[in-house]
Amino acid sequence: MVNLSVNGQQRSFDGDPSMPLMWFLRDELGLTGTKFGCGVALCGACTVHMNGEAVRACGVPMSDVGGKSVVTIEGLDPKGEHPVQVAWRNLGVPQCGYCQAGQIMSAAALLKAKPAPSDKDITDAMSGNLCRCGCYQRIHAAVRAAAKGA
Ligand code: FES
Ligand code: FES
Repeated sequence: MVNLSVNGQQRSFDGDPSMPLMWFLRDELGLTGTKFGCGVALCGACTVHMNGEAVRACGVPMSDVGGKSVVTIEGLDPKGEHPVQVAWRNLGVPQCGYCQAGQIMSAAALLKAKPAPSDKDITDAMSGNLCRCGCYQRIHAAVRAAAKGA
């Protein structure tokens, strides 16, 4: 039995320990804000926080999440008012939106670890999150705006 916290709630899992966390979040808990993109930890669409760090939910087996605290886009802020979400709205970042939950979770983890990131810090931290619509400039600007509290 694997016990973990998801968005502040205690959850347990009794299935195949090699199953990726992403399936647990999406299929068992119905938290579909975490998107399935590549499935092999390359695109960042499935990014969630595990003990405060950004991780790829498709690359983390359930055997690794015991006792951990996982936060998904649904749990980032109860009202969607996290500074990163506010900046995203103010700058109209998304196009199709598919990559955006993962982008926001990566940005939020960066700003928690580094509240005043340099441009290079932002580029490095966001480089593993791919956007097929090519919103990279607005993503970068929104992370910078969120860091400045704008
Ligand atoms: S779906 Fe997990 S990184 Fe692409
Ligand atoms: S907004 Fe479409 S994939 Fe990023």
